[in-house]
Amino acid sequence: MKRSLGVCYYPEHWDTSLWTEDADRMVDAGLEWVRIGEFAWSRIEPERGRLVWDWLDEAIEVLGVRDLKIVLGTPTATPPRWMLDHYPDMVAVDANGAPRKFGSRRHYCFSHQAYRQEAARISRLMAERYGPNPHIQAWQIDNEYGCHDTILSYSDAARIAFQNWLEQRYRTVEVLNKAWGNVFWSMEYSEFGQIDLPNQTVTEPNPSHVLAFRRFSSDQVVAFNKTQVKAIRPHSNAPLIHNYMGRITEFDHYTVGQDLDIASWDSYPIGFLSDRLEESDEHKTQFLRQGDPDFQAFHHDLYRAVGKGRWWVMEQQPGPVNWAPFNPAPLRGMVRLWSWEAFAHGAEAVCYFRWRQAPFAQEQMHSGLLRPDSVEAQGLVEAKQVTAELADDDGLSDCAIKPAKVALLFDYASQWAWDTQPQGADFDYFRLVFEAYRALRSLGLSIDILPPSASLEGYGLVLAPGLLTFDNVHLESCSGSVVLGPRSGVKTEELTIPAMLGPDIEGLDCKVILTQSLPPSVSLDLSCGGKAHRWQETLDGKAETVVTSGEGEAVMVGNGKCFYLSVWPDLVGWQNLLSPLCKAEGVEVKRLPDGVRIRDTQQHRFVFNYNAETVEWDGIRLPPAGVHWTKTA
Ligand code: GAL
Repeated sequence: MKRSLGVCYYPEHWDTSLWTEDADRMVDAGLEWVRIGEFAWSRIEPERGRLVWDWLDEAIEVLGVRDLKIVLGTPTATPPRWMLDHYPDMVAVDANGAPRKFGSRRHYCFSHQAYRQEAARISRLMAERYGPNPHIQAWQIDNEYGCHDTILSYSDAARIAFQNWLEQRYRTVEVLNKAWGNVFWSMEYSEFGQIDLPNQTVTEPNPSHVLAFRRFSSDQVVAFNKTQVKAIRPHSNAPLIHNYMGRITEFDHYTVGQDLDIASWDSYPIGFLSDRLEESDEHKTQFLRQGDPDFQAFHHDLYRAVGKGRWWVMEQQPGPVNWAPFNPAPLRGMVRLWSWEAFAHGAEAVCYFRWRQAPFAQEQMHSGLLRPDSVEAQGLVEAKQVTAELADDDGLSDCAIKPAKVALLFDYASQWAWDTQPQGADFDYFRLVFEAYRALRSLGLSIDILPPSASLEGYGLVLAPGLLTFDNVHLESCSGSVVLGPRSGVKTEELTIPAMLGPDIEGLDCKVILTQSLPPSVSLDLSCGGKAHRWQETLDGKAETVVTSGEGEAVMVGNGKCFYLSVWPDLVGWQNLLSPLCKAEGVEVKRLPDGVRIRDTQQHRFVFNYNAETVEWDGIRLPPAGVHWTKTA
């Protein structure tokens, strides 16, 4: 597969006299893809039923005749104002009962059936018109499901849909009462119609009720997306894509991904560092202009799984953004580094957001490849460098993915479960998995992130921290070592405690008999070196102890192949636990300097320097934001 670059463009924001020049400049820069249309509903259909296609026909033509390939977005993240006159109750409602009104975007509730039909209608109309157009080479459905906290909605539409969903899942209310343990506090129901959404209760609602609502809310996104897939497929053979986000876990991306052809995500490394990571101030200062060295890679690997091997970066940060608490400019070279890193992880395309900075409305402080006065910005300089490097070749335009030796399971339902019942104020599933990922990367490893149901064949080491249940996990398919825990397999899927306690692992005699969460001021020493914090389970059983705490308690037990870890290690702890397991399985480990990361493809080894200083490592001199590759095959 040939790699390429692209850009997000909003022809409706600019006078038509600029379109030709813009398209010529995109071609000159070596860009191949242009995404358009995803917020343009008010221009396509200014009044209900009055469709105005001529401007979009022309924009597509201007881009298409220059051989730019178009990703056409369905505009369903921004229903026009008239839509609300027809369906005033279509908006999402927050947990306090307040409607989330018109005046920005994503003002809809996924459960609103009439809006879902409207979304399908506009997608079908676009597909009928542009499906046969050869310039339309991909579709983007909607835009960033879950952005602005929009998955959980407490609307009437959601309540009714939830009751139906519960009836489908449990069949009788008696089964539901038993599964949730509603005898507790006299919470028993006698019919599904009595069951409200789990908000505005006096104290916390039943965790089983909340988890059911989280599963339901995820299913609504899947159904909403499917409606548009069905509307477009009959009219177009072009691949269908959605642009997912960083650390948005409110819906099951794997399930949405089953209905699409390619996964993509929107990568804003500097914004994410400041507003989506719990790292120390020191870390945030060190990587202020570069972004976290592992956050992008984690999502690249995750969305490769969501896309069943096919994935893109649909929006790449080109300069300062407008939405984080502070918005510094990228260090020179970082736009290039982020682009190459995506390719090294298997991205087929990287598209920058956006072409020209808009001088108006909410994102006027968000940079583009061009300044508002059309002068080239630093992002474009670096994008051009990447297109030149791709053209230079040495096999670089074809970064074929190499299966990793190490896999990490990531599961959305586990996130919902531990959000619902954190038990310790700082217990977060994403963070637990991400910290394990960081440790693996710091050991120089390339990693595959997998859904729990994936085959584990061919991996030397598989990690599954914090996995709610092992119900769909194919442990038997793994011939390498597996590390489960902390907090894996210790609940039922209804978020209750299993009768015989957990985890129930074949061939490993161990049970969690006591669980403690620990405040930030407390940590445990580990016999392998490093520390553990936040979480500690006491284990019982005959499984052999591999690592102990400073007090001699077992923190990792195993049978030589399968291990259960009862604590949340820090970076050094993870490194020291995992290195011997890798070595035992013949997986090469290389401890990397801070901020230096490796990724192996079929033909190359890439080395990235996320530091703002030059680093010498393994005979390689890496300048700040440096990217180095060597041919390995
Ligand atoms: C994304 C979104 C874009 C734009 C961008 C700004 O969340 O898809 O439309 O808002 O962020 O960084």
